[in-house]
Amino acid sequence: MTFTPLFNMQTPALLAIVIVVNGQDNLGLANGYTAFQTKSIQGQIVRSSQTLASLNSSSSNFNFLPFDILSRLAFNGAHHLGDVTFRYRTSGSSAWTSVDSASARKPVTVMSSSLKPNLFAAADLAPTLPRNLPFLVTREWLQYEDDFAMRINITNTAKSIAELGSLGLPVSINNIFTGRTAEQTQDRCSLADPYVGLDAGYVRVSHLRGTGKALVITPLGSTPLEAWRFLKEPQGNYGYQSQTFEGNYEWQVHSIAWAQNEWRNSTPWNAPTFKTLQPGELYSIGLRFSIAENIQKIENAVVKTKTPLAVGIPGYVVPSDSSTQLYLNHSSAVKNVDVGGAFTISAPSSPGGPYKLTPIASAWGRIRVTISYEDAKTQTVHYFITKPAPSTLAKLGRFFTTSAHYTNIADPFGRAPSIMTYDRETNKIVDQDPRVWISGISDEGGTGAYLATAMKQFAQPVAREVSILDDFIHDTVIGTLQQNGSLGVVASAFFYEPGAANFSYNPIFDWQSWTSWNRERAYTTRRAYNYIHPVATYWAMYRVARDYPEQKLRASWEWYLGRAVNTTQYCLSNRAKNCDYGLVGLMGEWVLGELLEDLKREGKNAQVSALETTMRYRAERWETETVPFGSEMAWDSTGQEGVYFWTRYFSLPSTPAKTLNSIIAYMPAIAHWGWNGNARRYWDFVYGAKIQQIERQIHHYGSALNSLPLLHDYELNPTNNLYALRVGYAGNFAPLTNIDDEGFASAAFHSFPELLKWDPYSGDYGQGFLGMSLGQTTYITSDQLYGDLSFGGHIDYSNSTMVETSPKDAIRRRVFVAALALKIEISAGAVQTVVYDKTVQSVTLTIVDAVASDALKASSAIVWLKRPGSITAGFSVAGARKERLGWVVNLSSGTAKVRITKL
Ligand SMILES: *[C@@H]1O[C@H](CO)[C@@H](O)[C@H](O)[C@H]1NC(C)=O
Ligand SMILES: *[C@@H]1O[C@H](CO)[C@@H](O)[C@H](O)[C@H]1NC(C)=O
Ligand SMILES: *[C@@H]1O[C@H](CO)[C@@H](O)[C@H](O)[C@H]1NC(C)=O
Ligand SMILES: *[C@@H]1O[C@H](CO)[C@@H](O)[C@H](O)[C@H]1NC(C)=O
Ligand SMILES: *[C@@H]1O[C@H](CO)[C@@H](O)[C@H](O)[C@H]1NC(C)=O
Ligand SMILES: *[C@@H]1O[C@H](CO)[C@@H](O)[C@H](O)[C@H]1NC(C)=O
Ligand SMILES: *[C@@H]1O[C@H](CO)[C@@H](O)[C@H](O)[C@H]1NC(C)=O
Ligand SMILES: *[C@@H]1O[C@H](CO)[C@@H](O)[C@H](O)[C@H]1NC(C)=O
Repeated sequence: MTFTPLFNMQTPALLAIVIVVNGQDNLGLANGYTAFQTKSIQGQIVRSSQTLASLNSSSSNFNFLPFDILSRLAFNGAHHLGDVTFRYRTSGSSAWTSVDSASARKPVTVMSSSLKPNLFAAADLAPTLPRNLPFLVTREWLQYEDDFAMRINITNTAKSIAELGSLGLPVSINNIFTGRTAEQTQDRCSLADPYVGLDAGYVRVSHLRGTGKALVITPLGSTPLEAWRFLKEPQGNYGYQSQTFEGNYEWQVHSIAWAQNEWRNSTPWNAPTFKTLQPGELYSIGLRFSIAENIQKIENAVVKTKTPLAVGIPGYVVPSDSSTQLYLNHSSAVKNVDVGGAFTISAPSSPGGPYKLTPIASAWGRIRVTISYEDAKTQTVHYFITKPAPSTLAKLGRFFTTSAHYTNIADPFGRAPSIMTYDRETNKIVDQDPRVWISGISDEGGTGAYLATAMKQFAQPVAREVSILDDFIHDTVIGTLQQNGSLGVVASAFFYEPGAANFSYNPIFDWQSWTSWNRERAYTTRRAYNYIHPVATYWAMYRVARDYPEQKLRASWEWYLGRAVNTTQYCLSNRAKNCDYGLVGLMGEWVLGELLEDLKREGKNAQVSALETTMRYRAERWETETVPFGSEMAWDSTGQEGVYFWTRYFSLPSTPAKTLNSIIAYMPAIAHWGWNGNARRYWDFVYGAKIQQIERQIHHYGSALNSLPLLHDYELNPTNNLYALRVGYAGNFAPLTNIDDEGFASAAFHSFPELLKWDPYSGDYGQGFLGMSLGQTTYITSDQLYGDLSFGGHIDYSNSTMVETSPKDAIRRRVFVAALALKIEISAGAVQTVVYDKTVQSVTLTIVDAVASDALKASSAIVWLKRPGSITAGFSVAGARKERLGWVVNLSSGTAKVRITKL
């Protein structure tokens, strides 16, 4: 996510690439608006086009639509709520004809005759559609119960059968940041996320602030959400499909005409369908607009509309050695659940209870579960099955230290030995790319492979891999990334300067782009983001050195720890004197919190206070800012992690809550592995991927990084905060899905329906892996609605006084017991079982020396006990000696039982 010259946060007002396509008023705004009001919603309809102009909740002035800039979105091709697109064919023709009500607008024909009491407007759309269509297309805006709704009627007016191979309802909301300051963006804009769940499908729209009412769009009548299609539009006045304007999507009721053509190389989320219309047949579809009290209560609003709701606990990413629970909430009974042959399923033991889904041994990857209800509704829930999480990590470590291990010691850029960006399509290391950092083992885009490998050694050290990483640190991080004895980290080890390097640059590539830095530019050391990757690597090696002392390394644990803190301070101390962007939150900087914790544990008091001074300056600065989530981009979802960490660490009054709300706005809970906990990101394919475009990313690193504040908040406030746990847990598990069956890990998944696949580049994957490594925890909790729960473990329900669980997460070193507000963490080895005794309020752990067979065995481990939010833990480990602010457990026999009791 490298600096882009077009969109710089320092100059938000200048962002717009103002290409005034035209000042045309094709919508007919000059003719004014028709106001409407229902119990829950108020707004305005454009009189001439009868498209929606304004949509507010009835009790607030917040507009979910770009009403304030509507006059510059009035040109042909710009979609608005109320538009309709379709592809049809009549008998005898095999080709589809495309129709779009936004292409050539004309005032629609008002149908005043049909105005009934609950109707605000109705029109025949013929004037704004192509001539001689074999359909009558009408649209009405109406009150539905307390809500507001739109219905489209399509009648086949021909004498023969017609088919609709595509039918879409554009959902345009105010996600336009272009030309707005950070404050205006935060005040006025919204984000939309879809649940492509057929009759249970809905779109959730949240105010960017993360507070206040949310908008929920559900089907009116039978209007399945089959696919979610990005709409191509002219660039317009706001840079459509750019970093500050993601663009618009449509709710597709039918999609086969796309699936057979543009999307023929992808596997859609739902089976593509079409609709046959007999001569004279009328087809009605529509959308209902409802208001949720807040983002956390969107699911309640969905249930209220009688749309089926699915809630998966812990979620929809399921390691094959675990099982998952699926709660269904609908007014009609379940008729059938089709698990696609991938799970064994057991029905609820009590009404409203969960279905239990357990993967069958051979299942892997995307799985669609289809639920049929007695009222004929069909719902799909989208799962991703992985191998057991530790073996998935084992594969990743093996893959990157073999296939992506770069060993060409003659490399003119000094990149060997290292672990480099890998291309899964060509199955080669990417040793050149005009975006030089991708081949330059720096920036996020060039570090994903090595950072993931480093953090994997923290989680699951393997002798061979540790030694490869150690050589990388001593021979390449030092010397190539940190040159000439300096702690400065270069922006890229690779550069484009034919005179300066004896290297065959591929002439097929465009080396004239601004991304093809010369040596001077590549060797700049001012980008603060670049420091996190080596720091995390040093820190991971410190933990290997410290916790597995039998493993011979090239330096002592003190050295790795020292390099980590010195590199951090070089960049960030003295108000980030040596860096740019050092005073904004940095991706992955949660690891600096781990570093600080370890400095305390090692009694390095001078470094502790120096690092705290550095961080306090940043945190106090954020506390003074209205929108402290700056980055290289005009709007971003990356700074929140660091801003939350340090403002919470220093107990500053307003920023932590503001930051959590910001995350809540862009990380949804949705019954789909791809969107659940998916932090909104949509431009980093341009900077770190093989397929380069502005496109919503699924499980880019934002998912796991933004999960950390949510999980931390849950640990501080475990009561009535299940939503934070559900979304945080989903985001934290996400990086497991990026890892393929052989251990390669992709930067992110492409969400556009023509792709629906993982990007071939490893790119900037590692930041997400870092978030997963630092966040993975098994949570034992209980909830009013859902009872005793284990996120990440298996609860044994056989004994009501004890909750026994065996962690199935990826790291298996952290346990949180909500009833005790107690977080337990071990330094090495793995937790095999946890028994929480409710009556005695004690926790017994079985710890083993290694999580996987080829991992190093720990001869001892430290057990740390924390009660987030309170000064003292109030617990201790029976019979253990204290060290590094924890309790030492001897693992020389391979296993140990540890009893944790109240002091
Ligand atoms: C909706 O809110 C906006 C403020 O964004 C206000 O200007 C507009 O008048 C409101 N519309 C209605 C119909 O209440
Ligand atoms: C649309 O069709 C429904 C029946 O499905 C009917 O009640 C309604 O009046 C029609 N509306 C328009 C504008 O044609
Ligand atoms: C269904 O959802 C509603 C609204 O959120 C809630 O009140 C009810 O308890 C839920 N029922 C079940 C069985 O989960
Ligand atoms: C450039 O590298 C090639 C091998 O890659 C070598 O044969 C040649 O001698 C080198 N040229 C110079 C000027 O170093
Ligand atoms: C390190 O020193 C070499 C030789 O003086 C120079 O070319 C290079 O730019 C220096 N690197 C950095 C990052 O300053
Ligand atoms: C870190 O910096 C301190 C202070 O300058 C120095 O004494 C120490 O040797 C450095 N540590 C490493 C590993 O370079
Ligand atoms: C629960 O398990 C504990 C330990 O195994 C045992 O002492 C206790 O009697 C059990 N309670 C019940 C109700 O089975
Ligand atoms: C662990 O126990 C073994 C066997 O009792 C003993 O030899 C070893 O010294 C102990 N290790 C530590 C670190 O106390």
